Amino acid sequence: MVRLIYRSRSKTKITWDLVQQVMHSSEVHNEKAQVSGMLLATNSHFLQVLEGPYETVNETFMRIVCDARHREVKLISFNIIDTRIFQVWGMLGIGIFDLNQRLETQLIDKYGEQDEELQFPLEEWKALAMIHDIRFMSDISE
Ligand SMILES: Cc1cc2nc3c(=O)[nH]c(=O)nc-3n(C[C@H](O)[C@H](O)[C@H](O)COP(=O)(O)O)c2cc1C
Repeated sequence: MVRLIYRSRSKTKITWDLVQQVMHSSEVHNEKAQVSGMLLATNSHFLQVLEGPYETVNETFMRIVCDARHREVKLISFNIIDTRIFQVWGMLGIGIFDLNQRLETQLIDKYGEQDEELQFPLEEWKALAMIHDIRFMSDISE
């Protein structure tokens, strides 16, 4: 199994609608491909984790790179893994703009800011730490 992480910049301002559209178009594919993961969005950037079999994660990423809804797709990591962080099929989608202000401020303090919003890191260790933090925050805010 592999885990792939990338960051990209959206063509348009990201709304919760856009996140949902993207997740909707990935639901069927990801389940068939046994791909799980998480899609994070600020107003301008996406950060996505894809976990699953080598072949299907690769194919999925090739398709995503060609998507006209984003650009500047930057690969952060592509590693062999034993266990998934995201055990359940499908994409967990989280809009940082949907978190409460206090949580967003905490994330900005820890990981940095660009254009007055949370900056998604390009270092793998930082991206993974942020993913863990946000996942924990979304668990407790449910
Ligand atoms: C930020 C972003 C993340 C995406 N994530 C996935 C994904 O996890 N799985 C997937 O199949 N498609 C994903 N897509 C959509 C693909 O780029 C593509 O539009 C879709 O797979 C095409 O499906 P279709 O041929 O059935 O219309 C994503 C698109 C964007 C912009």
